[in-house]
Amino acid sequence: MIIASNFKTNHTRKSTREFIEVVNEHLKTDSKSDVYVFPTATGLDEFETVSNLNIGAQNAYPTQKGSFTGEIGTEQLDEFGIKTILIGHSERRHVLGESQEEIAKKYAFYKELGYKIIYCIGEPLEVKEQGLEQTLEYVYEQFVGIDTNYENLILAYEPVWAIGTGVTATTQDIQDVHSAIKGKIDKPLLYGGSVKVANVAEICAIDNVDGALIGTASWVKEDFIKIIELTKDI
Ligand code: PGA
Repeated sequence: MIIASNFKTNHTRKSTREFIEVVNEHLKTDSKSDVYVFPTATGLDEFETVSNLNIGAQNAYPTQKGSFTGEIGTEQLDEFGIKTILIGHSERRHVLGESQEEIAKKYAFYKELGYKIIYCIGEPLEVKEQGLEQTLEYVYEQFVGIDTNYENLILAYEPVWAIGTGVTATTQDIQDVHSAIKGKIDKPLLYGGSVKVANVAEICAIDNVDGALIGTASWVKEDFIKIIELTKDI
């Protein structure tokens, strides 16, 4: 399974290092799990990791360097050998106001450089309430301008109403959306939205779920390791 931790605005540089060291130690005896950690920009650093532990950036601007106050570019990522990026996360879309056009531009830029991209899609509650057809229509709009044939692409379906709310999508919800997306795009597809120790095994066992992208429940390293343990044989 692919298991990814999105730190969002959590952890310091020091606690990020501790987290990564503990997870790395754990993975020395687990070569099956494919693990990603997305620290804050200030938590990025040089990390020696096993090959199945990948450190990525939560965000970066589509530039090498320049005048983009508050942003980082590939010059800063290259310093630490970062070649993985999260694009299209719902908090960037809905809280920080990134448009599909900006997201597509960012995607094209990092694709061109060969980055592994975890690309997030998902509908808000008012769309979900309109039914599956509308949900899929909304989700497909989030692929506008995105080359879904890109070889280093992983998708993450994260319903906005399930992120950080403690409300997880039902097995049926996940099954319906995942099978529809997989029918169109043959890429690994993660589920995200209130995944935790108590439900991760059940979620990862659903057809067409290739892993999980986890926020809140992944920030405690012991819990993240439990999550890796619980899913490694699925
Ligand atoms: P959550 O966040 O696990 O806290 O719901 C998931 C995400 O935003 O990736």
